[in-house]
Order: sequence, then C-alpha cells, then structure tokens
Amino acid sequence: MNVSAIAVRRARPDDAADIARLMADPEVFGNLLQLPMTTAESWQQRLAQDPAAGHLHVLAVRDGQVVGSAGLHPQERLRRRHCAMLGISVARAAQGQGVGTALMQTLCDYADDWAQILRIELTVFTDNHRAIALYQRFGFRTEGTHRAYALRQGVYADVLAMARLHPCPPTLGWPQPDADHPSA
Ligand SMILES: CC(C)(COP(=O)(O)OP(=O)(O)OC[C@H]1O[C@@H](n2cnc3c(N)ncnc32)[C@H](O)[C@@H]1OP(=O)(O)O)[C@@H](O)C(=O)NCCC(=O)NCCS
Repeated sequence: MNVSAIAVRRARPDDAADIARLMADPEVFGNLLQLPMTTAESWQQRLAQDPAAGHLHVLAVRDGQVVGSAGLHPQERLRRRHCAMLGISVARAAQGQGVGTALMQTLCDYADDWAQILRIELTVFTDNHRAIALYQRFGFRTEGTHRAYALRQGVYADVLAMARLHPCPPTLGWPQPDADHPSA
C-alpha cells in the first residue's frame, strides 16, 4: 500500500488529460453517471467554468500523480441555493487507501465553512458499498431509493439518494439577542 502524503488542490484546465485518464476506467465511470470514451477536451471545457459560479473541482495528488477527483456543484435555482451535488472518483489502484476520505474532508470543509452550502446531495448505486460507507462516515443519510435509475453495463440499476445537512449551521457572529430588539 502506498502511504505517501495525499495533497488536495483545485483542478486546472491543464489537468484535463489526467482526469480523462481517471474517468476512462469502467470501474470508475461505471459507478458514476459518466459515459465511456470521455475526452480531455470535454474535461477542459468543464474545468474552464467560471469559479465565481461556486463550482469546486478538486484533485488528489500523490507522488505527483493525479489519483482522485471530486466536485461540488451548487444548484442554480434561488430557493435551492443552499444545496450542492457531490461527485467523487478515485483511481482503481489508489482505492481503499484514504484518498476518498481526503477528498470528502476537503469538500465538506469547503461547503460548511465557505460556500454557504447547508445540504450536500448525491446518488450512489445500491451495491457500491465502499462509497456508501464513506458517505455515511461523513454524515450522509439515505433518503430513499430510485429504482431503475440509470443504465449500467446493460442493466437498469437502483441508486440510493443520500444527503448530508450541515452539522452546525452558521450563525450570526454577534451576541444574541439583539439589544435593539429584546424578546421580552
Ligand atoms: C468510492 C470511492 C470514492 C472511495 O474512495 P477510497 O479512496 O477508496 O475511500 P477511502 O479509502 O478513503 O475509504 C473507503 C472506506 O470504505 C471502506 N470499505 C472499503 N471497501 C468496502 C466495502 N466493500 N464495503 C464497505 N466498506 C468498504 C474502507 O474500509 C474505508 O473506510 P475506513 O477508512 O473507515 O476503513 C472510490 O472507491 C471510487 O472512486 N470508486 C469508483 C467510483 C465511485 O464509486 N465513485 C462514487 C460514486 S457515488
């Protein structure tokens, strides 16, 4: 097992080829909702998205190699702006070695402390036990099952809908109650 340090940093457009390589593995893209035959060009376009829109795409790097990728994608509709969708993938050879944990910690810290995200949502195939265990460890709860949700290798497969609510939602940063508006 490789125990070198894992660094997590924001993805850049010139990482597109590494991400395409990661997403070319059926063990990886098959467990996501990605398609076969992805290209570096399509990832380059996605990575060029305006960071001001709040999308965060991070990479896990170990010994100079990209070994994982994860993203948090805020919802655009006004009344859903406290919500974001999460996606994560780790290279097959690096799975089970803490890379997913490092990526999840980064995304949860970003959501909780900086991005005003109160609810993180995801779907996960019901037989993806490693991913489900990882999400539960970060406070995600199962909210239901979508049946025959997506075609995976020729079979319609079920997914769990999971979500994590902010464990300690931000409060106003001054003493309460407000002296100008006493409650009694
Ligand atoms: C799911 C995924 C992101 C997890 O990343 P990872 O780097 O392998 O995860 P970690 O090593 O940080 O942690 C995995 C945890 O699952 C546990 N685990 C491993 N295999 C397991 C299994 N078959 N069943 C249950 N738990 C399992 C590990 O013990 C570990 O928990 P621990 O740290 O408490 O021991 C990664 O395996 C992956 O990318 N898989 C393919 C793509 C995918 O499925 N993405 C998620 C789509 S929703």
